Amino acid sequence: MSDTYAVFGNPIVQSKSPVIHRQFCEQTGEDMTYTKQLVAEGDFNIAANAFFKDGGHGLNITAPFKQDAFAYATSLTERAQRAGAVNLLTRQVDGSVTGDTTDGVGMINDMLNLGWELSGKRVLVLGAGGAVRGVLEPLLGQNPVELCIANRTASKAEELARDFHDLGSVAGSSLEALAGKQFDVVINGTSASLHGSLPPLPDDLLAPNAACYDMMYAANPTIFMDWATEHGATKVADGLGMLVGQAAESFYAWRHIRPEVVPVITQLRRKMSDAKNK
Ligand code: ATR
Repeated sequence: MSDTYAVFGNPIVQSKSPVIHRQFCEQTGEDMTYTKQLVAEGDFNIAANAFFKDGGHGLNITAPFKQDAFAYATSLTERAQRAGAVNLLTRQVDGSVTGDTTDGVGMINDMLNLGWELSGKRVLVLGAGGAVRGVLEPLLGQNPVELCIANRTASKAEELARDFHDLGSVAGSSLEALAGKQFDVVINGTSASLHGSLPPLPDDLLAPNAACYDMMYAANPTIFMDWATEHGATKVADGLGMLVGQAAESFYAWRHIRPEVVPVITQLRRKMSDAKNK
């Protein structure tokens, strides 16, 4: 019987993870099944217990269960501990379940695949929620000269900066305090894009040849991507590559084979575009 994997979330119908993992299997010849499962809020532990009791090998976890998965894991990787969230649960031979997070490394790998430089750059992250917490450790691992976290609620950005200050030069601020500052790389980690809105940003925020990344993705450029293009960014990307990147890291953790991400991103992008034009 094939090894079994799944993604848990609520809602889950939108999840592209089964399609992504199917393509990884086609590439690598790995024999596994990967399904998506809607889990009722409050039922995470029951659903995870049932999955692993039935012989399930590993789970990806999406909203709103990343904190539940963090609490569920028998042990956590250091990066998951830092992130305070888990998107990957793996059953070990002794029956214990390890929790890990691959979102941050997925985003960094996407940026590196796109040919973006982070080392020595002034990097700004917008937002201070769970999504941002998950990318700070790998971002600081790229040795930016400066990492600024700016958030509508400044105290949350300052708290995040305190939690990560041992890993590099990181500061928290309000959005208003961005006035007069410039950055080479700007990452939108707010959930504002989801609602079609944008945090208020100074017109001269972007340094020449800036790169802008939205952790969200959609068939059309997000409102933040449009803002970036209008304000002079020469490199602009959404988070589709981050999605595929976190899946690739999960696949690697489970199967010990690194799949190719670029053909998968290209195919997903084409499908999204076809669906939009229908
Ligand atoms: P996620 O898990 O996606 O990170 P979250 O933890 O709820 O979600 O965090 C959402 C982030 O988006 C927060 O930083 C939030 O700012 P506040 O901390 O001030 O709430 C930010 N955010 C959401 N909507 C926003 C908006 N319209 N303008 C600016 N920031 C916004």
